[in-house]
Amino acid sequence: MTMAQRTALITGITGQDGSYLTELLLGEGYAVHGVVRRTSNLQRSRIEHLRRDEKIYGKRLFLHYGDLSDGTTLRRIFRAVQPTEVYHLAGQSHVGLSFEIPESTCDEAGMATLRLLEIARDQPQPLRFYHASSSEIFGNAIELPQTENTPMLPASPYGCAKAFATQLVRVYRQSYGLFVCNGILYNHESPRRGENFVTRKIARAAARISRGLDTDLTLGNLESRRDWGRAQDYVRAMWLMLQQETPDDYVVATGETHSVREFVEAAFAVVDLPWKKYVRHDPSFDRPAEPAQLVGCADKIRKRLGWEVTGTFLQLVREMVEAELEQLGR
Ligand SMILES: NC(=O)c1ccc[n+]([C@@H]2O[C@H](COP(=O)([O-])OP(=O)(O)OC[C@H]3O[C@@H](n4cnc5c(N)ncnc54)[C@H](OP(=O)(O)O)[C@@H]3O)[C@@H](O)[C@H]2O)c1
Repeated sequence: MTMAQRTALITGITGQDGSYLTELLLGEGYAVHGVVRRTSNLQRSRIEHLRRDEKIYGKRLFLHYGDLSDGTTLRRIFRAVQPTEVYHLAGQSHVGLSFEIPESTCDEAGMATLRLLEIARDQPQPLRFYHASSSEIFGNAIELPQTENTPMLPASPYGCAKAFATQLVRVYRQSYGLFVCNGILYNHESPRRGENFVTRKIARAAARISRGLDTDLTLGNLESRRDWGRAQDYVRAMWLMLQQETPDDYVVATGETHSVREFVEAAFAVVDLPWKKYVRHDPSFDRPAEPAQLVGCADKIRKRLGWEVTGTFLQLVREMVEAELEQLGR
């Protein structure tokens, strides 16, 4: 494929991953098209810097109004853009919230993926399709660490919907020979993580408390453990998957777990404060069902695609807290 032909379409371009992926693809010379929802506020904070860049916006970056529930519009966007690569990242991405809004979560994470696979199947030109699967498909995992072959046992509505979509991607690859890949991604964080995710909450609170803007932080289970990586590394994994000769599924993970307590300790250490003085546990914040320990084995993507993580857990925490401090300083 020549550089001139590379056109990417991203659903979820305004999200954490979509914004980093856009930067990566623009850097690689792609024309990037993103699907955005109509909102009452035109500020799209994570990609605003790109939208304001006259050399990029309208020249190599284009936004199209659409919604995952609106198949007609999505089909029209595919026809207009004729993407060579599709990155399907959109949808309600908060596991805990999926217990409160299960129907819309499952529509977005499950049915919308089917909708897009059907559109991809009808395209006259060949395209490559990335599906944002998740470690949450393993839920009450029966093995540790999990690999691409670990059975799916989701423990949340979000996990169920992602499992449905992940399996459909496999069926479409096997049945129609489509170039479709599942990236089975473990949690990945950054200063652009949504504000209602625990890592961002902690980073933000540590920064605000250190500046006297807040007095305490209430969290759910401090002993929950997660395999936390860096979002910038994970979007690179997505791109690598679509640059291969053949489509496949890949686990993307660090292979290490850390507890929420360790994240808190590290974040408050950045601002030199004793965390125990400020952090409280409220059981009502705990998830209705905590998955078994989710930790991924990323040997396949490391060996086959040469993917690697950059930076340690402590560096990630520091990056997030420092970004919050910088934002407060502005
Ligand atoms: N981050 C992780 O740790 C992780 C791990 C595994 C899998 N994933 C999956 O990877 C994908 C990207 O994650 P993320 O962290 O970047 O999520 P995010 O920051 O929550 O972004 C979600 C994106 O989806 C868009 N969206 C939501 N509902 C939509 C709808 N009905 N129609 C059109 N767009 C819609 C959002 O648009 P608005 O800006 O308008 O809200 C946003 O651009 C998600 O599918 C997530 O479930 C994430």
